[in-house]
Amino acid sequence: MLPIGPLMKEHRKIERMVALIAGHADELRVDEDAEPDPDFIFDALTFMREYADECHHGKEEDILFAALEDREISSEHRQIMAQLIEDHERGRELVGALDDATSGWEDGEDDAREGILEALEGIADLYPDHIATEDDELFIPVMSYFSDAEKEDMMEAMWDFDHELFTELYESCIVQWEEPGDDD
Ligand SMILES: [Fe+2]
Ligand SMILES: [Fe+2]
Repeated sequence: MLPIGPLMKEHRKIERMVALIAGHADELRVDEDAEPDPDFIFDALTFMREYADECHHGKEEDILFAALEDREISSEHRQIMAQLIEDHERGRELVGALDDATSGWEDGEDDAREGILEALEGIADLYPDHIATEDDELFIPVMSYFSDAEKEDMMEAMWDFDHELFTELYESCIVQWEEPGDDD
């Protein structure tokens, strides 16, 4: 399998969450009495932070894009990569904005609903194009810059990345209960 195989599979999962986010945004846009669903938004935030950003963007930036940085690649591929990295940054901003607006909603702030809606729409807008660019214009063509052995190494690095992330996640789950809280 090419090292981009796992990344493309992850795209299919991100698309499903982004479709749900777009659906919630539509509900709120169409019916002005509809209320944001904090339970859904909490799960969407966790997914976008941990799976889409840490796990997926993490592998793209730290493994594939990092390897491309060291190559003589075409200026077109370099430009596409720069745009994709900017998109990741924008994605993080939108997720942060969604989190802030949702806290505001729970605190009863007046403009929080609009903030939630804008962030949901921003995410729903950003990802389909971002993913299509990676799938169609970058991932497959750039494989030609690497030898079979390099592709295998990259694949292994991706497995290790996932394993470390998964392990870290559960490590922090233990640590949070081992360390005394502020009020102890
Ligand atoms: Fe990406
Ligand atoms: Fe991606």
